[in-house]
Amino acid sequence: MTQTIRTVMIIGANGNIGSSIFKAIVESGKFKVSVLSRLESTTTYTADITVIKSDYSEESLVDAFKGQDAVVSALGAAGLAEEFKIIDACVRAGVKRFLPSEFSSNPQNAKAAALIPVFDLKVRVNEYLKAQESKGLTWTAVVAGVAFETALQLGILGFNIKTKEALILDCGNRPFSISNLSQIGNAVVAVLSKPEETANQFLYVHSFTVSQNEILAELENVTGEKWKVTESTTEAARTEGEPLFAEGDFAGLLLLLKAIFMGEGYGSNFTKDAVLANEKLGLPSQDLASSVAAVLAGISL
Ligand SMILES: NC(=O)c1ccc[n+]([C@@H]2O[C@H](COP(=O)([O-])OP(=O)(O)OC[C@H]3O[C@@H](n4cnc5c(N)ncnc54)[C@H](OP(=O)(O)O)[C@@H]3O)[C@@H](O)[C@H]2O)c1
Repeated sequence: MTQTIRTVMIIGANGNIGSSIFKAIVESGKFKVSVLSRLESTTTYTADITVIKSDYSEESLVDAFKGQDAVVSALGAAGLAEEFKIIDACVRAGVKRFLPSEFSSNPQNAKAAALIPVFDLKVRVNEYLKAQESKGLTWTAVVAGVAFETALQLGILGFNIKTKEALILDCGNRPFSISNLSQIGNAVVAVLSKPEETANQFLYVHSFTVSQNEILAELENVTGEKWKVTESTTEAARTEGEPLFAEGDFAGLLLLLKAIFMGEGYGSNFTKDAVLANEKLGLPSQDLASSVAAVLAGISL
């Protein structure tokens, strides 16, 4: 692939992760940006952004993707199964690069895929994508670990910022990889800017790889207070989470995510379990101290 990427369509541009990706792509000033959204979606965009509403039929997707060099999916779990159809439509429309809605835990770890069906779905999407390479569609899966701001807000990291309480798992010393939302956006812009170097691969990125105890120390440092600490294990999170998750309880999903991000054997330490692409992508360095300070101040880096 020698062609420069100039036109980019983002799916899920208004989502938790997608809005950061959308912002980074627009602010880079490098691409003509369009958005694909559901018919019922009510998000509005500035006049320079082309918004195409779709019923997600394959024909409507093919029409939407014509003229796009790249399609970036940030679909949430509820829409993720549409990616097979989206990939078919990309091939038919002549799209050069597809970025699946990855941006999370290690997609090459079978233990994580076995615990949460949506992670297994992502594995199958990636397999499907690989099968399209001969048809001219290239792909890049950006793996970002824990989304820092989102995970802090949802309590996935075990910290309650309001009550200054911490739930420390497995003694809290195991490092795991974390990305600020802005870093996920930086990574996507870098992939789109370097299409040849990033074709047909998983790219693991982070802002930092740290342990719960290191995050706690920084939270205590910034708040100037000792936090109340309770201890548990990732195994307890998994065994408590599984039945809740099976009943459709969101709390169960959060517990399983805790186990995957902080437990042993889920491939969540990208400095050890993967090859980090930060340098290859030229990503800015981001550190825990300024990231914690930013979250507590209610601003994004
Ligand atoms: N690393 C982490 O900690 C972390 C955290 C959260 C998410 N993620 C990952 O990031 C990706 C995006 O997740 P998200 O939480 O940002 O997604 P989200 O906010 O739940 O949804 C993103 C968008 O998907 C579109 N969509 C299409 N079909 C849909 C359907 N049937 N139901 C609902 N929405 C639909 C909607 O956009 P329109 O309204 O424009 O149609 C929606 O705003 C996922 O792969 C997820 O696993 C990672």
